[in-house]
Amino acid sequence: MPTGSAVNIYEFRYDGVLGWTENAERKCVKFKRTDYCGTLRKADLSREVVAAGWVQSYRDHGGVVFVDLRDRTGIVQIVFHPELADIYALGRQLRHEDVILIKGRVLARAAQAVNPKIPTGEIEIAVEDMEMANKSDTAPFSPAQHDPVNEDTRLKYRYLDLRSADMAQAMVTRHRVTKIMRDYCDEHGFLEIETPMLYKSTPEGAREFLVPSRLHAGEFYALPQSPQLFKQVLMVAGMDRYMQIARCFRDEDLRMDRQPEFTQLDLEMSFVDREDVIDLITGLLVRLWKQILHVDLPSTFPRMGWREAMDRFGIDRPDTRYGMELKDISDMVGQTEFAVFKDAVAAGGCVKLIAVPGGAALSRKQLDQLTEDAKKLGAKGLAWIKLGGDAGAGNMGGPIAKFIPAPAQQAIRQRCGATDGDILLAVADKIETAWKVLGELRQSLARQLKLIPENRFDFLWVVDFPSFEHDPAANRFIARHHPFTAPLDEDVPLLETQPLDVRAKAYDIVLNGIEIGGGSIRIHQRDVQSKIFSLLGISPEQAQKKFAFLLDALRFGAPPHGGIALGLDRLLMLMLNRQSIREVIAFPKTQSGTDMMTEAPSAVDPRQLMELSVAVVKPAAAGAAAKA
Ligand code: AMO
Ligand code: AMP
Repeated sequence: MPTGSAVNIYEFRYDGVLGWTENAERKCVKFKRTDYCGTLRKADLSREVVAAGWVQSYRDHGGVVFVDLRDRTGIVQIVFHPELADIYALGRQLRHEDVILIKGRVLARAAQAVNPKIPTGEIEIAVEDMEMANKSDTAPFSPAQHDPVNEDTRLKYRYLDLRSADMAQAMVTRHRVTKIMRDYCDEHGFLEIETPMLYKSTPEGAREFLVPSRLHAGEFYALPQSPQLFKQVLMVAGMDRYMQIARCFRDEDLRMDRQPEFTQLDLEMSFVDREDVIDLITGLLVRLWKQILHVDLPSTFPRMGWREAMDRFGIDRPDTRYGMELKDISDMVGQTEFAVFKDAVAAGGCVKLIAVPGGAALSRKQLDQLTEDAKKLGAKGLAWIKLGGDAGAGNMGGPIAKFIPAPAQQAIRQRCGATDGDILLAVADKIETAWKVLGELRQSLARQLKLIPENRFDFLWVVDFPSFEHDPAANRFIARHHPFTAPLDEDVPLLETQPLDVRAKAYDIVLNGIEIGGGSIRIHQRDVQSKIFSLLGISPEQAQKKFAFLLDALRFGAPPHGGIALGLDRLLMLMLNRQSIREVIAFPKTQSGTDMMTEAPSAVDPRQLMELSVAVVKPAAAGAAAKA
């Protein structure tokens, strides 16, 4: 697990009282801690200190015992000398993860013993007295070496795992990030207001977690997917600016950047437009990067319309750290003899491709694999054209090159900016399929061929999302965000004539190809809202049933308002350069939604179910198979 080297947890010093105060009655603690292990430096030389922590390692070197003592801030070397026989004997008995307090003097290490790899590497503590607070059983793994440990084991013994430097760094950074967020919002006039966890089931978005009500048999609360409707109500309530570090719950399929419960910096503002929200969040991200990573970000981030993002990158959260952009060659190959291309264009589709730098070196086996991947993503096939190589300099090779006349070959090269040694991968299909397949291949090839520059933070605001999409199966329009997202003013007239061309006042903030936040300006006029409901096929009665409290609230003086939510876990994962959001959450769930430590979810006492008027039916076959 790589550690975001830029974050220095040792900056996080605490100067208050660290230990227990001596308690004459309890007599359980001899010492009062004076310093955290990881904070001692040369400036502390010859001080008498008390440190406390866990034994990370011990070495018996010809009559001197060296121990690395660890706490949340790092490790310090402590030394037991045989001259103090009693203490030395105690030192020799120390084993991994024993908890001790020691009193001793800070001494300089001999030049050859200096360890430049750790911040305390120039000093050590000569132990004069020691108290064993607790002996540890043999731990299943050492927090110092948790990398190769199976993740399930790390999660089962999370308290051991959290003792590691990586996890301490994650927890300290998480604390500092949320503190900066709160301070920033406070400076900008926000109130932190808590919204309920036991909420009403609202049929939109992801699948919900339900909580049965005991007092109302047969009825359920839902855990909130986000505080969305409450924060809008808070604007109607005149709170003007709301923020919350909010826990959200979504019963989705889990991935590296998805957890069933996760945290957002959620906010909403009154009397603002899109620019205000974008400016506010940009300013916050600039401050976070400066204060946590010491990186100066530009004061504005690039913006891209949704359509441009799709056309150039095939995805609405483009990773702009590398090229390989999608190019459309329908105009150049629609008339060729290659039926696959010709037919797709004739059917109203397109031919799009990416040029993979150095890709001509891909083997036949690799190309077959890419074709399989493309098919899994929905393509009918993947056409490839090698530039140069066996075909000769300036020529195109591969099974379909012969169908493309020389002038078209030149034009294609130019459009893609491709040169000999590259490979072109083309998909002929409906535009949505071409976007999806090439967008995914672009990302996986960039990773595989190591084309992604490191240590770069490419922020991008994606704006002008379409408000609606068409669901062909149900032959109806559905809202892409939620039905309260305002359309662009200039697109309101299109609601009745060309709904698919209506763009929303929505915005996503993307970092290195990951969506770290999203939001919108909401509808506050009743007539626009009812137009949108009727477009979505939601009758006034249905709307009232689904969103009664919000619609009621909107009738009684709703200010113009809008907001956004940042995914805190994803933000931290990217700041710390971790591979999964599980690495920045103290107690995450596994891919299958299990908490390895507490073993939740678990069966409950039938009496509890009776009380809740809940009966468990046999799980559906699919669900049972997934669990097995
Ligand atoms: P949205 O659904 O886009 O917007 O969520 C906002 C951000 O939350 C993060 N996120 C997640 N992180 C971890 N695990 C998950 N399962 C997960 N799902 C989402 C993402 C995402 O960008 N109420 C609206 C915001 C608004 O309109 O103001 C909302 O929740 O980083
Ligand atoms: P075929 O004519 O089906 O044998 O396909 C010839 C080549 O074109 C193969 O390499 C296929 O993978 C590829 N191919 C087939 N359909 C498509 C398509 N829709 N888009 C891109 N390539 C395709």
